[in-house]
Amino acid sequence: MYGTEEVKGKFAIVTGAASGIGRAITELLVARGAKVVAEDIDPAVESLAGPNVVPLVADISADGSAEKAVALAIERFSQLDLLVNNAGIIINKLVVDMSRADWERIIDANVTGAFLHSRETMKAMIPRRSGAIVNVASYASYFAFPTIAAYTASKAALAQLTRTLALEAIEHGIRVNAVGSGDVLTNILNTVAADGNGVAALAAHGESAPMGRAADPKEIAEVVLFLASARASFMVGSVVMADGGMSVKVDS
Ligand SMILES: NC(=O)c1ccc[n+]([C@@H]2O[C@H](COP(=O)([O-])OP(=O)(O)OC[C@H]3O[C@@H](n4cnc5c(N)ncnc54)[C@H](O)[C@@H]3O)[C@@H](O)[C@H]2O)c1
Repeated sequence: MYGTEEVKGKFAIVTGAASGIGRAITELLVARGAKVVAEDIDPAVESLAGPNVVPLVADISADGSAEKAVALAIERFSQLDLLVNNAGIIINKLVVDMSRADWERIIDANVTGAFLHSRETMKAMIPRRSGAIVNVASYASYFAFPTIAAYTASKAALAQLTRTLALEAIEHGIRVNAVGSGDVLTNILNTVAADGNGVAALAAHGESAPMGRAADPKEIAEVVLFLASARASFMVGSVVMADGGMSVKVDS
């Protein structure tokens, strides 16, 4: 099924659904006829509750959270068609200033949570021989600047998890892909921006993209829905860049 009907009647789990890109993905899925288990560590996710959204407050990296999310989807929807591993956090610290706890917090949230949710989702999808997993990676999966080593390492790992899992999953009829997001106007930098205004920091950084701006979360959500849909039926293990040209630019 193509066009805006493509996810109608599908059942999804979206992590990090309380805010930013995850919220936009959840809203777009629902607007186009899907039902969503919306998982987030932030209890604000409960405000999304409704006929088409079942909220789940959980830390995606904690033991048992992935099992809980999948069980909830099966209980409420009876099947699972899509997992979006979107939740993520960032820290701005030089490696020499970074504690082991800092490092592990980022890796746990950005990679281990996606691994655990992918594993449990695969178990539910394999018997039906269908489904899709979409990961929210970043231009930081490939490129770097000082102070984001934990984040770049986690997003590079997420890209490689995407590719390797894609090879394991396709024999079961399950497609795994990722979007490599550029700067998006969300709250992700609020805890690290000097003045607490992460949106302004992202807007300013986005100006350095060839497009000259950061994205609205909806622009990333559209790519996620495409990768989830039958329109992307030949896409396996791709990390599709949606970054306003950031990753193809060479400073001259
Ligand atoms: N905003 C950007 O410029 C940008 C660029 C590239 C990639 N991304 C990626 O997009 C994804 C979404 O980020 P965003 O920009 O929408 O940020 P955001 O802060 O607005 O939303 C992230 C959500 O994830 C949740 N979350 C964080 N850790 C969690 C955990 N352990 N368990 C459950 N939920 C958790 C947060 O509570 C929050 O609601 C992240 O993976 C991020 O790395 C963002």
